Amino acid sequence: MEKVINTPLAHLLGALLILLTPTFLQGVEGTIGVNYGTVADNLPPPVQVASFLRNSTVIRRVRLFDANPEILKAFARTGISVTVNVPNDLIPQLTELSFAQQWVETNVLPYVPATNIVRILVGNEVISTANKLLIGNLVPAMQTLQVALVETSLDRHIHISTPHFLGILLNSTPPSTGKFRPGYDIHVLKPLLEFLRATNSPFMINPYPFFDSSDDTLDYALFRPNPGVFDEATRLTYTNMLDAQLDAVFSALKLLDFEDIDIVIAETGWPSKGDPGQAGVDTGSAEEYNRKLIQHVMSGIGTPLMPNRTFETYIFALFNEDLKPGPTCERNFGLFKPDMTPVYDIGILRPIVANAAANTDHSRTKSRAYLLMLLFVCLMCL
Ligand SMILES: *[C@@H]1O[C@H](CO)[C@@H](O)[C@H](O)[C@H]1NC(C)=O
Ligand SMILES: *[C@@H]1O[C@H](CO)[C@@H](O)[C@H](O)[C@H]1NC(C)=O
Repeated sequence: MEKVINTPLAHLLGALLILLTPTFLQGVEGTIGVNYGTVADNLPPPVQVASFLRNSTVIRRVRLFDANPEILKAFARTGISVTVNVPNDLIPQLTELSFAQQWVETNVLPYVPATNIVRILVGNEVISTANKLLIGNLVPAMQTLQVALVETSLDRHIHISTPHFLGILLNSTPPSTGKFRPGYDIHVLKPLLEFLRATNSPFMINPYPFFDSSDDTLDYALFRPNPGVFDEATRLTYTNMLDAQLDAVFSALKLLDFEDIDIVIAETGWPSKGDPGQAGVDTGSAEEYNRKLIQHVMSGIGTPLMPNRTFETYIFALFNEDLKPGPTCERNFGLFKPDMTPVYDIGILRPIVANAAANTDHSRTKSRAYLLMLLFVCLMCL
């Protein structure tokens, strides 16, 4: 009896899922995020940014480099998943429970659950600072912050991690030889990975094929047709640099017996403008990298050593940031200009911008009504 009723129900539920949202957009919404950096003096108010992302793009994840109260308030009731960041210089203090409790009380508690804070990053590329005080206190700070989260029961919804630059690897080519730098591997990364495993949190990395490419490897970095790179040890061929970087990290994790930990791409991107004579730095290349990046990490193809995986990925960055120091390219990683017009389009804009939210809700209501009617008819027949 149960079986007879369940079968049409299952069909209906399947139909419901298929009808309600285009599959491609659904997938992108789940996994593609942006880094919302604010080193600029010309950005729109956070409320406007949050509405824009919510109503006009498929982006459903945002990573901040701080815990800016105005931004946290702006994302309230948007449903967008928000990652906040404890700045590097607070890491030593964060090892004191009272400080960690205070940090949570000030920077998290006032905004949840209206703002969907899902992750707290402790520091950014801490090992790249070569600052022993910060590096030595990184994992203790994360552990103490976790205690403060558990005390407020926020640990059920909010996870703690920390993003790394790829300089944590001693070797990365070929990918099978990937290993962490000695010293850091046992004293920092192993305890960090134990923490991540215990708290079901991902290992986060910032791979930038852009910074590792030269004229010779531009096609490899930009997911264009190229001869590929053969890894003798695994007999696997790499057709793009991002896969090679991800697999080098995977090999390093495996060496320490942590290959079960999820890898999240906390930052990656490509600038649309550089200094005169800089190869591969233009709007077309930036569009090509980011568009193919999204397709690739979402495709479920995975990498040669991590087949069939998708990767939660945060593009750097949401905006061009005019106050960033360094060469021209640093100020031109944005998907959008400060007036929120796209620098280039990578398929993250919703087709009908102005009324997208309203239209979607309307058509959903209609298909729900239709399916409920079908369900009713089916049950009557039984
Ligand atoms: C955009 O989304 C917000 C909710 O985040 C909503 O209140 C607002 O009315 C929307 N604006 C437009 C122009 O659709
Ligand atoms: C990946 O997917 C393919 C096709 O569905 C399957 O044959 C293969 O066993 C999967 N590999 C892993 C490691 O899951």
